[in-house]
Amino acid sequence: MNTKEKVLKILYESNTSISGETIAKALGISRNSVWKSINQLKKEGYIIDSVSGNGYTLAKGNIFDEYSIKKHLKNEHKLYIYKEETSSNTVAKELCQKGEGEGSVVIVCSQTNGRGRLGRSFISSDENGLYMSIILRPKIPIEKCINITVMCAVSVLEAIEEVCSVNCTIKWVNDIYINEKKCCGILTEAGMDFENGLLHYAVVGIGVNLSSPKGGFDKEIENIACGIYEGESYPDGIKARLCAKIIDNFFDKYAKIEEKEYIKVYKEKSNIIGKEVDVYVGNKVVCGVATDIDEEANLVVTDEDGKCHRFNSGEARVRHTGVPLS
Ligand code: BTN
Repeated sequence: MNTKEKVLKILYESNTSISGETIAKALGISRNSVWKSINQLKKEGYIIDSVSGNGYTLAKGNIFDEYSIKKHLKNEHKLYIYKEETSSNTVAKELCQKGEGEGSVVIVCSQTNGRGRLGRSFISSDENGLYMSIILRPKIPIEKCINITVMCAVSVLEAIEEVCSVNCTIKWVNDIYINEKKCCGILTEAGMDFENGLLHYAVVGIGVNLSSPKGGFDKEIENIACGIYEGESYPDGIKARLCAKIIDNFFDKYAKIEEKEYIKVYKEKSNIIGKEVDVYVGNKVVCGVATDIDEEANLVVTDEDGKCHRFNSGEARVRHTGVPLS
């Protein structure tokens, strides 16, 4: 920890204002060094009240930084936190190319080019969401990637339910819903090692809408997207707690991914089993009833001739009676 981080830690842990002299004594540094660190922290966006004679007070409200995340994390993870980037997945992939190891997490406060599945964009240009990418080095063939995505969906769902006290469901493959609207999407991207046909890396990108974006959701998605919290704000400290819980849940499950325990919850939380769906894969569409999700996380759809189709990728759209499909 450098001096600035040590000063920050003291401010975090202090419940009342604390004088420069006390901080200096505790760290064995000069008051001038404390003052420099405080100024640096202020420049980085920390709100520190410094009333003369009263010492320093850190506004702990909605801090979202390494310390605020790590204090809730069970295990040590390398965190890369950026104020603004194109996309956390892009940054994570670049890190992977440079040899970044499994377990690191890239967190971006706002994305200028947030990406969704199937070439779509993911609105993430303000700080009303949690945007993060987990770096993995799994020695598995590419078709097994679906297991990671599905396991991630369960990890995120359980984290949202616990931290935000709200019920969620999952729409195959990896969208998390509250009531009838989507509050989270997951985009898994992978690099292949062509020598052995196994993955070189996988990057699991998670985007959670904590609240509505400033000015509300775009017209095209306002009926299908939602924030976990109504309006444009969310409770203090929730973003850091949710981020840490997602990482913990994810790695707890990843350690025993072979056991596929997550499939049970995934099925219980599915919001499409038993419904009429159209499944789009490339330019093909299969219509039928979503009858099951198997042990490999494939969606099983039974068509009107009773034939079973299994999908390990694609997009399922639920048919709403009376509503024509677009
Ligand atoms: C989807 O719903 O289609 C998937 C959305 C995934 C969005 C997340 S936000 C963090 C990470 N970075 C990205 O650019 N995309 C993912």
